[in-house]
Amino acid sequence: MSNNTPIDVVTGAFSYSGSHIAEGLLDCGRRVRTLTSHPDRPHRLQARVETYAYRFDDPAALAHSLEGVDTLYNTFWVRFDHGQTSFANAIESSRMLFFAAKRAGVQRIVHVSITNPSIDSPLPYFRGKALVESALAQTGTRYSIVRPTWLFGGQRDVLVNNIAWILRRVPVFAIPGNGGYPVQPVHVDDLARICIEAAQADDDLVVDAAGPERMPFVELVALVRAAVGSHGPVIPVPPLVMTAAARALGLLVGDVVLTRDEITGLMDGLLVSDDPPRGEIAFSQWLDDHTTSIGSSYANELHRHFAARP
Ligand SMILES: NC(=O)c1ccc[n+]([C@@H]2O[C@H](COP(=O)([O-])OP(=O)(O)OC[C@H]3O[C@@H](n4cnc5c(N)ncnc54)[C@H](OP(=O)(O)O)[C@@H]3O)[C@@H](O)[C@H]2O)c1
Repeated sequence: MSNNTPIDVVTGAFSYSGSHIAEGLLDCGRRVRTLTSHPDRPHRLQARVETYAYRFDDPAALAHSLEGVDTLYNTFWVRFDHGQTSFANAIESSRMLFFAAKRAGVQRIVHVSITNPSIDSPLPYFRGKALVESALAQTGTRYSIVRPTWLFGGQRDVLVNNIAWILRRVPVFAIPGNGGYPVQPVHVDDLARICIEAAQADDDLVVDAAGPERMPFVELVALVRAAVGSHGPVIPVPPLVMTAAARALGLLVGDVVLTRDEITGLMDGLLVSDDPPRGEIAFSQWLDDHTTSIGSSYANELHRHFAARP
């Protein structure tokens, strides 16, 4: 690859969605640089990607890491407040990243958000996402906002993988409420494709990234249960009981399995899109193809993002 090949930055290229976006860009013949808190994480893309550490402590260094870059693909966000990590800090860091990109002359920012963000949301995740989108719109750099529902697939899948892991090992599976609220999972490769396509827009753009299948949450659980051959009962429980059960499991596995806010967001039906789906990979078909691998080991968010950080 020559030094004249255009370079893109993908945050988190050794993490989940960022690795799929980076791989998609490399496959298109682009050069890729990443920003990450884990520059030495073992990953199949290590040798193909230039690596810089996130420098949220130093605006000049952050801008330097974005110099000469065509498009910034931003996946940076946090799932919950933990220790020094908070939604408030993540909003501020996102703002710094956008201004650093503007300062460095980045042509376009493709920003990964979430479906149904709202400044009025009582949920810090969805409210924070709306605040970050608004900060991006005020940056003055061309942008494409891509709003995924719930990601599945790939080696670093957390949510579906851990549902499968629990179904394989725990005799009873609890779901919050009656499970009738809708979900519309989108494959991580579809998200990557939608992001790369969104970078080609002429104007500013906001699009949802949702999969082709929309179903009640209880049906999604039933599909995963059948895929892993579980015969345990699926029982509806009140959200507070679900929160307590998730906390208890979290103590056992040393992780934050599911937060109260995530349960509320799920039950409020926020992980769906009313637009025609842009995702093509059907959840049920993908599941059929991954019955032996899914949930064979637990994906631990705390180990992933908080252990061994340099
Ligand atoms: N996963 C889903 O189901 C889902 C659904 C809807 C929307 N989204 C959105 O999609 C985007 C990417 O999600 P993802 O699941 O692909 O994320 P991810 O790969 O786990 O992380 C994306 C980036 O954020 C950094 N990061 C994550 N947690 C962090 C923490 N606690 N402290 C500091 N940095 C942290 C990662 O750092 P490192 O590079 O150091 O790992 C990485 O650079 C996010 O904006 C998310 O809101 C995800």
